[in-house]
Amino acid sequence: MQTIFSGIQPSGTITLGNYIGALKQFTELQEDYNCYFCVVDQHAITVPQDKAELRKNIKSLAALYVASGIDPDKSTLFIQSEVPAHAQAGWMLQCVAYIGELERMTQFKDKSHGKEAVSAGLLTYPPLMAADILLYKTNLVPVGEDQKQHLELTRDLAERFNKKYNDIFTVPEVRIPKVGARVMSLQDPLKKMSKSDPNQKAFITLLDTPKQIEKKIKSAVTDSDGIVKYDKENKPGVSNLLSIYSILSGKSVENLEKDYEGKGYGDFKGDLAQVVIDALAPIQERYNELIDSAELDEILDKGAEKANFTANKMLMKMEKAMGLGRKRR
Ligand code: AQP
Repeated sequence: MQTIFSGIQPSGTITLGNYIGALKQFTELQEDYNCYFCVVDQHAITVPQDKAELRKNIKSLAALYVASGIDPDKSTLFIQSEVPAHAQAGWMLQCVAYIGELERMTQFKDKSHGKEAVSAGLLTYPPLMAADILLYKTNLVPVGEDQKQHLELTRDLAERFNKKYNDIFTVPEVRIPKVGARVMSLQDPLKKMSKSDPNQKAFITLLDTPKQIEKKIKSAVTDSDGIVKYDKENKPGVSNLLSIYSILSGKSVENLEKDYEGKGYGDFKGDLAQVVIDALAPIQERYNELIDSAELDEILDKGAEKANFTANKMLMKMEKAMGLGRKRR
């Protein structure tokens, strides 16, 4: 069976973008693949985090994975910092990566732009991400479009390591969803929806109340022509809302355009809000059962044990290939 790895940062409560671009496809894939899903908390500290908030977000994200349909009997769900091999392998891969290629990463440029103090970790995030993936002999990485460049670097690092040291890594393929790979901000539809956006109105989180969802969708930026039509270039706001509607309702964009012919944005937004509320209701219900339960801790303990077992085997291979430590028999 082929292996899948994917992670989400606990850098806030996950958004509809993370759900559509990542989580939703994870739950479908776990039926056919050996899956590892990770709360990548070490990635989250590449930018400043409040300690108490981070702790809360880590558990909350783990609960949301399960509430969204990740079945711990089928998939391995764990927290990155509870599997030390990730940071150890990440260091080795930093030594294989070149500064120039890391500086070229769009996410590094975006997140460091205009900032006075930028952590070295923000630059070396991609080799850690490569370690996350390569430790599990991953064949496929399902991500949103924003992570494509990091995935290409992961492939380069794997190939470079295999050539220079020993052929131990599987070179992974990227899997990007056909629709919803890039859910856009509700306030600036030219920017992707992000959980750490300072403007709360720009994103919907999986834990927003029906009232918050309604308000955010009603105030989503559209345009003034009042026609519900998909045209990414000229109508990015409406197109983004149509994509969200289509993915969550299962109706095609063409059918939605027909349904709203002659109707204004008011009706369209009101119905979309209800679609989002209905899609999130069962997730929120399961989340509330899990968040303070012993069940969640048991799932994460079991996941860490399984992940440590697999990751340590690859870590030893990496150390051996690079000549680290004493010769072991
Ligand atoms: N807007 C998006 N549309 C579709 N997919 C998205 N993803 C993120 N934003 C969108 C996908 O979600 C997964 C987890 O992402 P992450 O948390 O590891 O980091 P990110 O891509 O940086 O996500 P955010 O929400 O923008 O986080 P912050 O604000 O902390 O930087 C990935 O598969 C990603 O592609």
